[in-house]
Amino acid sequence: MNQISTDASSMNQLAPVMLVTGSAKRIGAAIIRAAHSQGYRVIIHCHHSEHEANALADTLNHSRPNSATIIIADLAIVNNDADLRQLVTNILAAFGQLDVLVHNASRFYPTPFGYINHAQWDELFLSNAKAPLLLSQALMPYLKAQRGCIISLLDIHADNKPFSGYTVYNMAKAAHRMMVQSLALEMAPYVRVNGVAPGVNILPESDSDQALDLVQQQNIVNSIPMQRVGTPDNIAHSVLYLAQANYVTGEIISVDGGRSLTLAGHNC
Ligand SMILES: NC(=O)c1ccc[n+]([C@@H]2O[C@H](COP(=O)([O-])OP(=O)(O)OC[C@H]3O[C@@H](n4cnc5c(N)ncnc54)[C@H](OP(=O)(O)O)[C@@H]3O)[C@@H](O)[C@H]2O)c1
Repeated sequence: MNQISTDASSMNQLAPVMLVTGSAKRIGAAIIRAAHSQGYRVIIHCHHSEHEANALADTLNHSRPNSATIIIADLAIVNNDADLRQLVTNILAAFGQLDVLVHNASRFYPTPFGYINHAQWDELFLSNAKAPLLLSQALMPYLKAQRGCIISLLDIHADNKPFSGYTVYNMAKAAHRMMVQSLALEMAPYVRVNGVAPGVNILPESDSDQALDLVQQQNIVNSIPMQRVGTPDNIAHSVLYLAQANYVTGEIISVDGGRSLTLAGHNC
């Protein structure tokens, strides 16, 4: 019995480590659960959703001890060099290594043209472009040491098909998309950098200010060739594929049920 638990514990110590930003719930949590079920040790990052992050970590540690931990931070700390260094120290202290960095955290809300202000620009660019770049740079030596990879959550609206009413979000995700391609060059041959572009894979929470009514939801379904909203697990599946695809870099996979084929660039 002792022998078995010792083996399980040493196997756990060899398991690769994945950090997913903004992963207490929704798509980020699905990525964490999928990676954990494939044997990864996971770092759940959150800002406000500490309760959900703790509950997720407890569940995962119950099924495999010492396999999940949480880090709480507003990604605005990338604006302060000392705070960013401390975050990196905390990330490395969790399991002593980092193999996969997933940029999932995001703010998403409309910015009608004519009413855009600098605070919206700063907030939307922070989570969707600036933090992913500065965090990638700060973690580069550790990812390089592991021959690891970065995977960014983008959007089918980040390229060529803007989402009407969301100019600042579209611009920030487009910058993030270009980061993926730029860093794929900068970090080769040591670190692969790829992206996943969701279509509609989970609707805004019903109690949020972005909630959609039933007619809006049906319009979305009608616009998707696969005739259904996707799932967070569909995204997690592609993230795990990219984590293991060791000859793929600079690639962006749309996971959208065909929606990008039919998009007219307007809000449906
Ligand atoms: N939902 C979709 O169908 C869809 C469609 C296209 C693209 N995407 C992309 O896929 C990813 C996941 O989507 P989602 O809908 O699951 O995301 P979400 O629920 O909108 O956001 C994920 C998390 O981001 C964190 N976050 C935001 N700003 C932060 C900050 N300044 N510091 C730290 N954390 C911050 C929040 O963490 P706390 O709650 O802990 O504060 C939030 O729970 C996003 O990058 C999104 O743009 C999603």
